[in-house]
Amino acid sequence: MKLFIPGPVSVSNEIMQSMQREMIGHRGKEFANIFEECSKGLKKVFCTNNRVLISTSSGTGLMEGAIRNCVEKNVLMIECGAFGKKWVQVAKACGKEVDVLQVQKGNAVSKEELEKKLSEKKYEAVCVTHNETSTGVENPLKEIAPLIKEHNALFLVDSVSSMGGAKIEVDEWGIDVCLTSSQKCFSLPPGLSFASVSEGALEKSRTIKDKGYYFDFVELAKEYDSHQTPYTPAVGLIFGLITQLERMLKEGMENVWARHEELAKQTQEWAIKNEMKLFAQSGHRSKTVTCISNEKRINLEEVKKKVKEKGYVMDAGYRKLNEELLASGRADTMRIPHMGNLNSKELQEYLDCLEEAMK
Ligand SMILES: Cc1ncc(COP(=O)(O)O)c(C=O)c1O
Repeated sequence: MKLFIPGPVSVSNEIMQSMQREMIGHRGKEFANIFEECSKGLKKVFCTNNRVLISTSSGTGLMEGAIRNCVEKNVLMIECGAFGKKWVQVAKACGKEVDVLQVQKGNAVSKEELEKKLSEKKYEAVCVTHNETSTGVENPLKEIAPLIKEHNALFLVDSVSSMGGAKIEVDEWGIDVCLTSSQKCFSLPPGLSFASVSEGALEKSRTIKDKGYYFDFVELAKEYDSHQTPYTPAVGLIFGLITQLERMLKEGMENVWARHEELAKQTQEWAIKNEMKLFAQSGHRSKTVTCISNEKRINLEEVKKKVKEKGYVMDAGYRKLNEELLASGRADTMRIPHMGNLNSKELQEYLDCLEEAMK
C-alpha cells in the first residue's frame, strides 16, 4: 500500500533496510559518530547553527518540551486549525496561561492581527504552526518573526509537516525552537522528533523550575555536546535517519525544497483542472500538503475505497474540520500530501488514480 495521507508517509525499502542492522550500544564510539553526523545533517536541513536535539518521541513530545522549557507563565498561540489547537491544549495541560489569536480556517495569520495582539499584553513566548496540516496553510514565519523579536518573546514553531520539505531559515528568522517529526518530510517511520534550540531558549529553560524530566532541553543539550542522549534513544530509527539525511544532502537541500514546490504546483494545477477549489488562501498554500474543498460533494469515502483497490491509502480530510464545515453547510475537504521522497511521476500516478475514482 502506498500511503497518501499527510503522515506517516511511505518509507522506501532503502531506508527500511538501513535499519536492519546489528544493534549497537548508545554509549559507544560508533553511536557517537552516527549521532554527530546526524547533528551535522540536521543543521543543514534546519538552516541553523543551533543544536538540533533528537528526541525519541513524536513531535507532540517536543511541543510539550518547548512549552515546559520556554514558558513559565504565559504564552500566545496562533491558531489556524487543528494543530494550532494542539499547541493550546499542550500549554493548558502544562498549567500555562494561554491567550489565543484565532485565525479563520483556510487563512494564514497576518502581521497586523499579530501586532495588535502583541501590543495588548507582554508574552514570554509566541507559538505558531508553520504548516497547518489540517487546512493546507503555510504561515508567513519570515514576516512575523521581527514582530515577535521586537516584543522580546521567544518564537516557538511547530514545523512537523514542513521541515525538510519547505525552506525554513531558523537562524535568519530567529526561531528559538523549531520542532518536527520523523514521519513526514523525512520519510522515516514515526518515533523520532527533532528540535533546534537557541541559546535564548536554553537561557530561559535554566530559569524555570518544575519543567519535568524527559524533555529538559538543558540536559538534552549537555549530552548532545558529547554526541549522546541522556536516555536510551531509538537507535534503530537513528540508523534510518543517517541514511535519509545522506540521501537528502546528496540531492541537495535547495533541490529538495524546489522539488516540494513543484509537487505542490502540480497538485494545485491538477485540482484546478478538475474544477476543484483550493481550501487555503492564495499566497499561503502549503508546499507539502494540498487541502481541497469538495465543492462537488463527491462521496469521499467511496473514492477512498476505490483507490484502496489500486493500492493507495487516501486522505479524506481532517475529520474534525470536515465535521465543522459540514455542520455549517459548507463542503468538506480532502488532502493530498506531497512530502518526503516522493517524485513527480509517483504523484501523477496517484492523481490519475484519484481522478478515475472520482468520476
Ligand atoms: C502540524 C502538526 N503538528 C503536530 C503534529 C503532531 O505530531 P506527532 O504526531 O508527531 O506527535 C502533527 C501530526 O500530524 C502535525 O501535522
